[in-house]
Amino acid sequence: MHNTLIDSTKAVFQSVFRSEPEHIFLAPGRINIIGEHVDYNDGWVLPAAIDKYICFAVKRQQDSETCTFFAADLGESFSFNISEKQSPVGQMWVNYLLGVFDAIQDCGRKTGGLQIAFSSIIPMGSGLSSSAALECGFAYILNTLFDLQLSKKEIALVGQKAEHTFAGVQCGIMDQFASVFGKKNKVMMLDCSSLEHHYYNAQLDGYSWVLFDSCVKHTHLTSGYNDRRKDIELGKEMIRLRYPEIVNFRQVTEEILTELKDDMGDLAYRRCLYVVKEIKRVEEAVRALSENNPECLGRLMTETHAGLSQEYEVSCNEIDFLVEEALKEQSVLGARMMGGGFGGCSINLVKEDQADRISKVIKEKYRKAFGIDMNVYKINISEGIKEYKDNESII
Ligand code: GLA
Repeated sequence: MHNTLIDSTKAVFQSVFRSEPEHIFLAPGRINIIGEHVDYNDGWVLPAAIDKYICFAVKRQQDSETCTFFAADLGESFSFNISEKQSPVGQMWVNYLLGVFDAIQDCGRKTGGLQIAFSSIIPMGSGLSSSAALECGFAYILNTLFDLQLSKKEIALVGQKAEHTFAGVQCGIMDQFASVFGKKNKVMMLDCSSLEHHYYNAQLDGYSWVLFDSCVKHTHLTSGYNDRRKDIELGKEMIRLRYPEIVNFRQVTEEILTELKDDMGDLAYRRCLYVVKEIKRVEEAVRALSENNPECLGRLMTETHAGLSQEYEVSCNEIDFLVEEALKEQSVLGARMMGGGFGGCSINLVKEDQADRISKVIKEKYRKAFGIDMNVYKINISEGIKEYKDNESII
């Protein structure tokens, strides 16, 4: 499958630019085990890069000031002049790339011309962070080919800035970090305040991670993502007024929230309550993971879903259905919506030898209930963004 992706992206490059690409780069999507909507709320998250990639075929244009992209899956191209200041345009996929370029210019870095064809097997709008892969993939390419001396952390931050400034989504840092720092068979526990991170084994004996894609597409520009950030700001403001010494959500307790409930109103209260509980759950989840306790991890994931659905209100009927139905199966230890929400995928911790049977059952029920054919992804946990050299293993 990946070699097909690489070969087809190379072939597109050859036919569009009438020459051979000189470099191939792969940027992965991500899953997140637990820690949802807390990356912008002082929390910890547990993401991992997966073996679904955007492949970039690239050639440097030594004496040119033009950067040209060809988005193979859309059949669209876009060029811009690297000596000019960029601003957002009408095509969303272009904005991710221009945003990266702009952020790199802001860091005072100089690049040259490029030709790039890219193609993706990360489903778009499915909560697997195809946009972070696009942003960070491009930042990584510029860094490598023009020796910009950006650290991996800076690459992730450039990707996030592009999302904020050119795509209009006030995302956290989780997706970009996972795409850049992924490690084979490891999940990372990322402290979203300090950006320190540690890796843990992703493998739980006899269990696997299975994704059910509801095929309900979302974009966080129009979903409630930015609104959730506003609700939280309101709650934080109330906390700050009463407890000026509190600077971080980690210091907030459920008791404090109960006390401030009337001041902040029910909506902000429920949003903040979710965050405070989710921050605790991630700590417990890391313990469960390191003690190889899949039952406990599964239970925490399911609790997260209840919070996302009822307190944070970022799920949808289709995903609630997928989670509920999955949990009726004894061999599913935990299930929850994953990523920003409002559609996309659920992530399920499933007994390995039952995964195929259960996927079939749920697929059938989902089709009956919603008339939609869901996709099932069995994923491998993979390396972060890298340049691909011929014949190497890429998982
Ligand atoms: C999206 C954002 C992330 C994160 C998740 C929810 O994927 O890009 O920063 O907030 O939603 O956990």
